[in-house]
Amino acid sequence: MPSAMKIAIVDDEKDMRQSISQWLALSGYDTEAFPSAEEALKSLGADYPGIVVTDIRMPGMDGMQFLKKLMGADSSLPVIMITGHGDVPMAVEAMRIGAFDFLEKPFNPDRMTELAKKATNARRMTLDSRALRKELSDGGQLMKKLIGTSQAMERLKEDILDLGQADGHVLIEGETGTGKTLVAHALHAVGARAGKKFVSVSCAAFEEDALIKRLFGPMQPDDNQLPAVEEARGGTLVLEDIESLSEAAQARLLTHINQDGTPPETRIVAISNMQDEGRTCEDALRPDLFYRLASLRITLPPLRQRGEDILTLFTRFSDQFADDYGCDAPQVSAQEATQLLQSLLPDNVRQLFNVAERAVLQSRRGSGTIASLLISDHQDMQPVMTTEGKPLKEYVEAFERMLIDNTMRRHKGSIAAVMDELCLPRRTLNEKMAKYGLQRSDYL
Ligand SMILES: Nc1ncnc2c1ncn2[C@@H]1O[C@H](COP(=O)(O)OP(=O)(O)O)[C@@H](O)[C@H]1O
Ligand SMILES: [Mg+2]
Repeated sequence: MPSAMKIAIVDDEKDMRQSISQWLALSGYDTEAFPSAEEALKSLGADYPGIVVTDIRMPGMDGMQFLKKLMGADSSLPVIMITGHGDVPMAVEAMRIGAFDFLEKPFNPDRMTELAKKATNARRMTLDSRALRKELSDGGQLMKKLIGTSQAMERLKEDILDLGQADGHVLIEGETGTGKTLVAHALHAVGARAGKKFVSVSCAAFEEDALIKRLFGPMQPDDNQLPAVEEARGGTLVLEDIESLSEAAQARLLTHINQDGTPPETRIVAISNMQDEGRTCEDALRPDLFYRLASLRITLPPLRQRGEDILTLFTRFSDQFADDYGCDAPQVSAQEATQLLQSLLPDNVRQLFNVAERAVLQSRRGSGTIASLLISDHQDMQPVMTTEGKPLKEYVEAFERMLIDNTMRRHKGSIAAVMDELCLPRRTLNEKMAKYGLQRSDYL
């Protein structure tokens, strides 16, 4: 059970304050009364666990100014305004500023309770979703798996949190290995459907008839699996390789979506593998289906467009593999770092993951270079180095970040040792760590 919501009552007239307090306390609320807006502001902040009821006409700061201050601190805090008889224009202005509602004096106490109930319910929902968001962005396991500090990755994490809470179907597009499947899992895990079924079907993995049967049935009596749309009911249905969906299957899917209602009971996350710039799943799907599926969209950038993440990902992956294989992670030389930053990586993060594993195995044997791994992966691609250059600043920053990260690791978070090794004053080191999102506590 959540604890009782608070109600802050602000009125300069003592009798009024007391009677509102008593009435609302009788209705089960935890009330606190303030004789002035100034007094109240000392206790009311952004995440106030309740609502505010305030008089408009007060000496000192009046209710309208008070409302503006409160809205500035937390625009979704419900504030109920009490207006004198004939203050309608003021009440209208208060609503425009963001008041939850207003009550004209003298008011019916039942109407007050009713409004308080509506406002506290709204408040509880806001605070719950804030808490959830915070928890997920602080500690959500899947969100933590999403490595990267580039602007694109930060945006992506925000988008996942936003779309996770939203209602429509989602289309995820991106080149192979950019993290589409991982993002589909994260979307499910951070949303209201977390804990419900997560069912994934690849549209490219079945012949046409078999796919329709897998998705919609009918199943035979001895099939021990429900059709995917039934299995996923209330949860998330992921359709990988959506561009492979045949016309007949598209028609069935559209019918299903139309029957499922708005907002949909089951969220569909369609995943489209963009092979090259030219062709998108918009070309492959009938428009009416496309627009239903693409009501919300996430496009994953290829790794070559977020250079800063390359070395971060590589370091994290090779640490992980070094742990798995019980050996030390390879030290990446400046030259190798540059080669990684410049390589094409057509399979994006997946490729980096594979290269990291092989680099760890190589270094355990004590032979081989990272450059050779990049070449042998794509013999047909000449040259390995991309002609698609990046600004020098990006190389320098990615390299700088990796170097500080590596050194912090080696010295287990000892700032003094790192300052010494890299010949950096403390202040510069602190600034750089802040800039690259590195935290000392992660190395202790
Ligand atoms: N931002 C990321 N942080 C950490 N690992 C990632 C990230 N993006 C992708 N991966 C990993 O890379 C591999 C490929 O990702 P995946 O989601 O399968 O790509 P896609 O579905 O786009 O082909 C997986 O092992 C995945 O866990
Ligand atoms: Mg995938």
